[in-house]
Amino acid sequence: MSNKALYSGSFDPMTNGHLDIIERSSKMFDELIVGVIVNPNKNALFTKEERVAMIEEVTSHLPNVRVECFQGLLADYVNENNFDAVVRGLRATTDFEYEIQMAQMNARLFNDGIESVFLMTSPRYSFISSSMIKEVVSLGGCVKGLVPEIILNRIKEKYAK
Ligand code: COA
Repeated sequence: MSNKALYSGSFDPMTNGHLDIIERSSKMFDELIVGVIVNPNKNALFTKEERVAMIEEVTSHLPNVRVECFQGLLADYVNENNFDAVVRGLRATTDFEYEIQMAQMNARLFNDGIESVFLMTSPRYSFISSSMIKEVVSLGGCVKGLVPEIILNRIKEKYAK
C-alpha cells in the first residue's frame, strides 16, 4: 500500500530549511505533497502562483514530490484527500509549544490513522524563517546558502521594484 504525506506552509518564500525537510521526508513517503497555503495573518511578498512555481522549480529533482495549493482548514484538506501523514519541521524548542498545540488539535480533526510526523530541522537552518530572509535581503544583507539561488534572485527582483 502506498502512503502519502502533506508538508504545508506559507512558503513566502521557500528556504533551504524547507527544502531540507522536503528532501528528507520525500524519502519516507511514496508521495509527498507540498501544500501552499495563503495565511490570512501574513502579508505576503509572493502570490501563491509564484510560490508554487518556485517550489516546483527547486524540487524538480524529486520525482515523488508535487506542489498544490489549498485554503481553509488543514484537517479538511488532509481528510478529503486521503493523506496518511502531515510532516512538520521543528527548528528549535520555541517551535515545540505551538506545534504540539496544532498537532493535538489536528489529531481531533483528522480521520483515524492520520499522523503528524516531526523532523528536526538541520542545525544549518534552524535559525531562519521566511520573514527573516526577506528582511535581510530587503536591507542588502547576504543570505547565501540559506535560500536556493533562483529564489534569492526572485526576492531581489521584488525588492528592486
Ligand atoms: N526551515 C526554515 N524556516 C522554517 C522551517 C524550516 N524547516 N519551518 C518553518 N519555517 C518558518 C516559515 O518560513 C515561517 O516563517 P514566517 O513566519 O516568516 O513566514 C515560520 O517558520 C512558521 O512556519 P509555519 O508554522 O509552517 O507557518 P506557515 O504560515 O508557513 O504555515 C500552517 C502554517 C499552514 C501549517 C498553519 O497555519 C495551518 O495549518 N493553517 C491552516 C488553517 C488551520 O487548519 N488551522 C488550524 C490548525 S490546528
